[in-house]
Amino acid sequence: MQTVKLNNEVIMPQLGLGVFQVWDPAETQQTVETALELGYRLIDTAAAYHNETAVGAALAASASKVPREELFVTSKLWVQDMTYAGAQRGVRDSLAKLGLDYLDLYLIHQPIGDVYGAWRALEELYEVGKIRAIGVSNFSPALLAAFTHFNRIKPAVNQIPINVFQPQTAPVDYLQANGIQPEAWGPFAEGRHDLFTNEVLTKIGQRYHKTPAQVAIRWLIQRGVVVIPKSTHEQRLQENLEVFDFELLPADMVAITELEMPQNHVRTAADVERILQITVHED
Ligand SMILES: NC(=O)c1ccc[n+]([C@@H]2O[C@H](COP(=O)([O-])OP(=O)(O)OC[C@H]3O[C@@H](n4cnc5c(N)ncnc54)[C@H](OP(=O)(O)O)[C@@H]3O)[C@@H](O)[C@H]2O)c1
Repeated sequence: MQTVKLNNEVIMPQLGLGVFQVWDPAETQQTVETALELGYRLIDTAAAYHNETAVGAALAASASKVPREELFVTSKLWVQDMTYAGAQRGVRDSLAKLGLDYLDLYLIHQPIGDVYGAWRALEELYEVGKIRAIGVSNFSPALLAAFTHFNRIKPAVNQIPINVFQPQTAPVDYLQANGIQPEAWGPFAEGRHDLFTNEVLTKIGQRYHKTPAQVAIRWLIQRGVVVIPKSTHEQRLQENLEVFDFELLPADMVAITELEMPQNHVRTAADVERILQITVHED
């Protein structure tokens, strides 16, 4: 598995499995076990996905085949816990549910709430070895510039939506120039805009005997982005892994970047209200 080196020298696989919206525990456990068997080592979950326990069951069931040190497990702090004490509790809960002694990466899931207080707690947990790397998600470059300036430890990762329709060229440039690893969530645009039958991706893929999904992942890999596609199907899990045996030409890279669609999406008060309705525990 190809890897990247984070700004604290921790090595992270460049491709992993995301488990958002895999709600059924048996399906989650089966998917993670299958992924580990196929060679996935990075698993991306979150308190808000309500599936850390099932992910933990899969890690435990695979422990004889995949030693802990080969795994790279990410979880995320939900907004309900976005305070200093909440972050301490969030990490404790995630570790207990996952059945782990330490997390490889822990992210502030959304820039909502007392992210500075939460970060102080994460810095402390990082320093005592409970988390190998700490980072953020859904932070804009402007937010990150301030966040980095006013904190002691710089985030190692920013997980943001990046895909062929939303290349995020300027944010990715900003992250790479500042030693923060970009990680793509929704690398298939969550299946929107007919990505899997897109004409440009299909045509480019035909030259390499690759599917549009593989081209979409490869384009992110070549940009130095970490990618965490989600699938619950074994054949697709395998397909999404087979992206290290071909290389897109510079002209392909440019042609794909031109698939960008206008986003015009500024987070509204209603979006934030919707996020605030999601709870990870009762209280
Ligand atoms: N930080 C954040 O705020 C945030 C937000 C969203 C997601 N994430 C993370 O990013 C991960 C990935 O994003 P996502 O799950 O939203 O969407 P995604 O990976 O862009 O797309 C997933 C969709 O693509 C389908 N699919 C996967 N591989 C395929 C293939 N080879 N051919 C055809 N269809 C395929 C899946 O269906 P099947 O499962 O049926 O195969 C599913 O419907 C999440 O699981 C989560 O870990 C983070």
